[in-house]
Amino acid sequence: MKLKPTIYLITIFAYSLGLTRLHAQQHHMSASYQAPTDPAVKQKIAEWQDLKFGLFMHWGPYSQWGVVESWSICPEDEGWTERRGPHSETYEGYKKAYENLQTTFNPVKFNPEKWVAAAKNAGMKYMVFTTKHHDGFSMFDTKQTDYKITDGKTPFSSNPRANITKEIFNAFQKEDFMVGAYFSKADWHNTDYWWPYFPPKDRNVNYDPAKYPERWNKFKDFTFNQIEELMTGYGKVDILWLDGGWVRPRNTIDTAIDWQRGIKFEQDIDMGKIAAMGRKHQPGLIMVDRTVTGPFENYTTPEQEVPDQPLSNPWETCMTMGNSWSYVPDDKYKSSAEIISLLIKVVSRGGNLLMNIGPGPDGDWDPAVYERLNGVGDWMKINGEGIYNSVSVAPYSKGNVYLTKNKDKPVIYAFLSGEDETLQWPSSVDIPLGNIKLVKQVRLLGSSQKLNWKKEGDGIRVMIPQGLSKSVLTSAACFKVTY
Ligand code: GLC
Repeated sequence: MKLKPTIYLITIFAYSLGLTRLHAQQHHMSASYQAPTDPAVKQKIAEWQDLKFGLFMHWGPYSQWGVVESWSICPEDEGWTERRGPHSETYEGYKKAYENLQTTFNPVKFNPEKWVAAAKNAGMKYMVFTTKHHDGFSMFDTKQTDYKITDGKTPFSSNPRANITKEIFNAFQKEDFMVGAYFSKADWHNTDYWWPYFPPKDRNVNYDPAKYPERWNKFKDFTFNQIEELMTGYGKVDILWLDGGWVRPRNTIDTAIDWQRGIKFEQDIDMGKIAAMGRKHQPGLIMVDRTVTGPFENYTTPEQEVPDQPLSNPWETCMTMGNSWSYVPDDKYKSSAEIISLLIKVVSRGGNLLMNIGPGPDGDWDPAVYERLNGVGDWMKINGEGIYNSVSVAPYSKGNVYLTKNKDKPVIYAFLSGEDETLQWPSSVDIPLGNIKLVKQVRLLGSSQKLNWKKEGDGIRVMIPQGLSKSVLTSAACFKVTY
């Protein structure tokens, strides 16, 4: 697709209208958890739980239109699937134009080292990237399809860094990030998932796999082979983050969940075989078969929400920094203070925060993103000590005071957290301490000033001294309580 610059701008503008609302096709948490038994997996989950803060990226040719990732080619009548722009009149015409975005995708500013530097400075410790979203476009050099970044039809294929997934994984591995491959089990480009003989009706496979087992087996092999490529040619991969929860064995459907009731057919892709292969190449691989409760959902993934209690299993909130998973021009990004407050909340409940950024069509992030990450980094340098290697501790929070506890030492961290930069510092802060009776020392991270405190109710009351430096008195601060 080639548009004149003015038409292009108008199109982008029109597309972004109405996209500020978050689409509601969200996955929610699984009902019950089955802990893995493989010691290497248990070990890796424990390590991952200490990292707390990760980077998520949704990226593909769709970023050129600034539209929702994949969903606009899904023939469901929902707000988030709505087609916009010049090709939207007919479904077929739109899908063709959408798939044709492959032929103009050329993110020449792509420079993953710049992203790692910003993420690392912000205190992020792991990264999950969309190697393939539901639309089926592979952001890696797969041999299974030519609908991919390295195919000759994609202009970026002639770039020395064309195998985008490999470049991103390498860059983050080098800086000791844990690395996760987001991979959509559903593939709306693959003719063994959406068989062109029938029109697609919704997000699901468009024929009955029980009736056409050969076709389904081809799809299973394709999926297996693609994942095998990712598990063998891309260095150390720690997490296989599998989306498209409707691709699942029928007996795992939870009819209490709206979107799962729409799944008509058995869509078993043999996760056992995929996991065994994955772990052969990547010992301890964490499998995240989202929402499919069972042995392959090693942690749960509440989406765009923070559970209001600690969960009894390992978990991660995935959330957008802007309003969309994919890049939208002039998206409104959360402030540094909002991100910090989210992180505190999540960590005090024992979870990890996976914060999403959508790279733009030129191959870089919106400048606002760097600014936000910088702010988070400044705060983390002082207060990160209370975030990493911590566990949740009762009573978890009281008012706007949130607790974490160091895994190994007798230390509790109490965060006073505002939702924005305008936190009004009180003259004293009450820190609930549950069963801890003997407090030895209380400090404010980032300050050497001595604090006065006394026992009060079920914890302590700390007086805030006058004249604390502005770098400590931000939207959130952390008291270190040694007992
Ligand atoms: C939602 C969106 C999907 C996105 C995912 C990330 O399920 O539908 O497009 O990849 O969130 O968690």
